[in-house]
Amino acid sequence: MEEQPAGRSYSTLPQLGGSAMRPPPSGTVAQDAAAREEATQRKPQLTAALLARGQDRFNIYCSPCHGRTGQGNGRIVQRGMPHPTSYNDPRLLAADDQHFFEVITRGYGAMYSYAMRVSPQDRWAIVAYIRALQLSRHAALADVPDNEKAKLVEDRK
Ligand code: HEC
Repeated sequence: MEEQPAGRSYSTLPQLGGSAMRPPPSGTVAQDAAAREEATQRKPQLTAALLARGQDRFNIYCSPCHGRTGQGNGRIVQRGMPHPTSYNDPRLLAADDQHFFEVITRGYGAMYSYAMRVSPQDRWAIVAYIRALQLSRHAALADVPDNEKAKLVEDRK
């Protein structure tokens, strides 16, 4: 019992016919796979709290490349990463929420996937915040509530 042919991860183990690590039996699913799949489908309701969460996660995970405003000029890009398309590009303005969710989940071209780092609910929060960033550059004065309008005019003076 004291001496057993125990294998370490990634080592070889002749007793098992080669690799010490065993492939999972076919049909195996991760314990939380169903819950995770469900979370990708469940788009949360848009609230101020969701936007704040999205802003927080965006600034941590996305702004290093996309920049705080989503123009694509983050620090890493200034040091040689390919320049991502601005979120204000007409194609991305027209893209639906699902496209942004998919890009975070699967990556896109030179951008790798953030599925391991950003939970599905946080991905939706980030998508909501990206929509706010887009709106911040494409809003008309008519979109601003009356009580805020006065402030804008005041600021211009
Ligand atoms: C390490 C740098 C980097 C980080 C961090 C990063 N991206 Fe990107 N992203 C890129 C690059 C580069 C592209 C352009 C890829 C290409 O066109 O090949 C891109 C493209 C995109 C696009 C445009 C896809 C299209 O249809 O053109 C979206 C949307 C996007 N990223 C969202 C995000 C979000 C959201 C995050 C944070 C969760 C994030 N990215 C984090 C580098 C990054």
